Amino acid sequence: MSDYKKAKSVEQLIPIEERYRHIRPRPQLPNFAAHIDGVDLTRPFSDAVRAELYQALLDFEVLFFAPQELTPEQHLELAAVFGPVAQGAYFPRKDSHPQIEVLATDADHPASVDHWHSDLSWLENPPAGTVIQLTEVPEVGGDTAWASMSKAFAALSPGLRDYLRGLDATHTWETSQWRNYLANLGEEVLINSIRQFKPVVHPVVLKHPESGKELLFVNETFTRQINGVSALESREILRLLTSWVKQPEFIYTHKWQANGIAVWDNRSTQHYALADYWPQRRLNHRVTFNARGRAGEIDNTLAAVGGLGVTSKVAYGY
Ligand code: SIN
Repeated sequence: MSDYKKAKSVEQLIPIEERYRHIRPRPQLPNFAAHIDGVDLTRPFSDAVRAELYQALLDFEVLFFAPQELTPEQHLELAAVFGPVAQGAYFPRKDSHPQIEVLATDADHPASVDHWHSDLSWLENPPAGTVIQLTEVPEVGGDTAWASMSKAFAALSPGLRDYLRGLDATHTWETSQWRNYLANLGEEVLINSIRQFKPVVHPVVLKHPESGKELLFVNETFTRQINGVSALESREILRLLTSWVKQPEFIYTHKWQANGIAVWDNRSTQHYALADYWPQRRLNHRVTFNARGRAGEIDNTLAAVGGLGVTSKVAYGY
């Protein structure tokens, strides 16, 4: 069989029985998107469980937990298993716990995160990952899809992988709907954001600092251009890569139950929240975390919009 026919399969399945003693990951695709059994997130974690959860995120890139009602403290504690809690994005905050973002969608606030992206890739140090709990879900619809950027990269032909390894790309929130959102908050907010969050450059292929996996790191929401090539080449390479990552072999789509929980690695995945449930209500509580060893509250995006209490009339999202 030619190599390109095998390229979407993983070379070796992760040896779950050998590697995990305290939790039981059930991957939904080969080496991707694991449901985790055997963990009560409402009780303190042992060191062994912490270590295995951390390893599971490196191995499977996105994890799911059965519905269980978390207090805000337990939600933050779960995020802290993976890294220091970060500031999140511009979303409105839970009054009592400003590190928790609240994405409420309903008849007046239609869903707006129906774009493939990795969170805040327009920061120099984007968060390493995110933990969400869906406390309210629509009767039907409102799924979230994740795509594996390690699978997407590994499936490319060797020549194209080599070419991409040498490239950098520019990311900015200005290519996204955030611009409208911020503009609606007033000219000053928009100008502050432009001043404070300038375009950043990331390699097109990231090497995951802990797992060592090579990851495609461009997304259609925030990546403006491939640097150092003509505008035409940049546009067409981005067009190829952003459609490449959407192949079904790289994507797991999760159906939510109320109080279900997901954790994702923001470097090795992109996600897309399906917008098919209007006017039903859906409530997502979201906490981002930084890589272990980095400070917690860096890159305070909220400061640019004037603090915690500010929300825009424009549907938030990207
Ligand atoms: C997000 O955090 O980007 C949204 C995910 C979701 O609401 O499913």
